[in-house]
Amino acid sequence: MDHHSSSDVRARSRVTVDGPERAPHRSMYRATGLTDQDFRQPFIGVANLATEVTPCNFHLHQVTREVKAGVREAGGTPIEFPAITVSDAIAMGHQGMKGSLISREIIADSIEIVTFAEGFDALVAVGGCDKNLPGILMAAARLNVPTVVLYGGTMMPGQFRGKSVSVEDVFEAVGAHAAGRMSDEELDELERVACPGPGTCGGLFTANTMGTLVETLGMAKLGTSAIPAMHPERQVAARQVGKQILDTLAQGIRPRDVLTVKAFENAIRVAAALGGSTNSVLHLMAIAGEAKVPLTLEDFDRISRETPHIGNLKPGGEYLMADLFRVGGVPLILRRLLDAGLLHEDALTITGRTLGEEIREFPLPDDPEAERVVYPVAKPLHPDGALVILKGNLASEGAVLKITDPSGKVSFRGRARVFDGEENAFHAISQGEIQSGDVVVIRYEGPQGGPGMREMLSVTAAIVGQGHVSDVAMVTDGRFSGATRGPMVGHVSPEAWVGGVIALVEDGDEIIIDSERRQLTVNVPDEELERRRARWVRPDPQYTEGALAKYQRLFASASLGARTTIWDS
Ligand code: FES
Repeated sequence: MDHHSSSDVRARSRVTVDGPERAPHRSMYRATGLTDQDFRQPFIGVANLATEVTPCNFHLHQVTREVKAGVREAGGTPIEFPAITVSDAIAMGHQGMKGSLISREIIADSIEIVTFAEGFDALVAVGGCDKNLPGILMAAARLNVPTVVLYGGTMMPGQFRGKSVSVEDVFEAVGAHAAGRMSDEELDELERVACPGPGTCGGLFTANTMGTLVETLGMAKLGTSAIPAMHPERQVAARQVGKQILDTLAQGIRPRDVLTVKAFENAIRVAAALGGSTNSVLHLMAIAGEAKVPLTLEDFDRISRETPHIGNLKPGGEYLMADLFRVGGVPLILRRLLDAGLLHEDALTITGRTLGEEIREFPLPDDPEAERVVYPVAKPLHPDGALVILKGNLASEGAVLKITDPSGKVSFRGRARVFDGEENAFHAISQGEIQSGDVVVIRYEGPQGGPGMREMLSVTAAIVGQGHVSDVAMVTDGRFSGATRGPMVGHVSPEAWVGGVIALVEDGDEIIIDSERRQLTVNVPDEELERRRARWVRPDPQYTEGALAKYQRLFASASLGARTTIWDS
């Protein structure tokens, strides 16, 4: 991809619309309403991930309209284009979830290809649901044209019998209902009130975690992510973002100037401090890969160990993203960490100013509840972060554990109950076949094995819904959702499909999960594992054609962010 310098803000679009030989090109654009004036201005691609497939992105046309108005006000020519979205909540619990991680790649590929082919000078991308911001940031890093990202914002909480609820509660209610602890009527009532309008899932699940991180990385305007989807301030913020991109373009600030080691270390810091979704590990690894920043799973573990857990947000804590907005939003978290010397404050942002400068100038409300939503660093929920990287014979390349237990630790020893694929595990759990002390092992769900690394929220919610909050563990080469709680280990690498040890585990094997020692082991001697390996046969692929088969061949290990690329070049 060719890059422009700050001295010529039209370097890319000039190639597509200037001069007599581009008369046909202009003619096509005139058919869309562009004028002579528009051709003299920089072309700003506006990726709008609006869709009706999920409430997460349902309102984005409205937001994008304001972004485009801001672009025009600042002297740019906005050109809107779409990218796909898959709703993780709606894809959850069935084969459809195999499309979710692939959708991240398709979003990145779509934005890259449209921007490449049309020669936009800069980009604004507006997205909501889980895979949107990761896909957008991957494209931005690849293209390295000036980019500002705008998150679509969270859904408001629902109210159920006097308590705030989100879709996570409905997933867990399915488990409670199956166990006979919730009636048909209650489940029906909860289903109708849990999601009261547009916006992303309400807790600090994956979408809201990535919204938080996009600000931390410096790729979004500070303070824009926590504004709820339907709050009027979101429209105001959208217009400012439209203006901002012209300034970012004029300054020649490009994504790889912003997405540096320091920016990623800040993002890992914030994810650990908040107890954010473990999907952030996968996504940050993938974005770093595109930005050519050398990041490893060890960086997550190292930073998490040195980071106090201060976010009291669901699924581990009490509050929702809309509550965080009330007390100051993402800048509140950043301010706490900055004041404690836990951020690289000189990291550059899309405004041309440093993250530290941006944070210091952001006005925070004086709200006594702020200390309940985000604890002070001096009095944290736990002294170290919630994201833990485990290794051992069951995961020689690493696995991810998120600690949601109030003790801040996981120490679990149990018997393996092994299932090939999520459906088999879910069936056994629904039949009440899982007992206290079991470690539910779900395999052939990795990036290649699934393909697509499904999230096991239906399984983990069913386990929790049956009352096994901390006495049943799960270990999988798939993912678990940002809404998952309990002793759950995901991203086990190498995955079963490539012959990882998880493929060799048998019912009754002892599995040890130890967060203090960073350990994930199966207590089976090496010789026995070798005997089992000699007998091991990889199952036939479930999908042999179409997008699932195609992407399956390109996925890397989860320990590298499950990024797709041409690995043998
Ligand atoms: Fe879109 Fe949860 S399904 S954020």
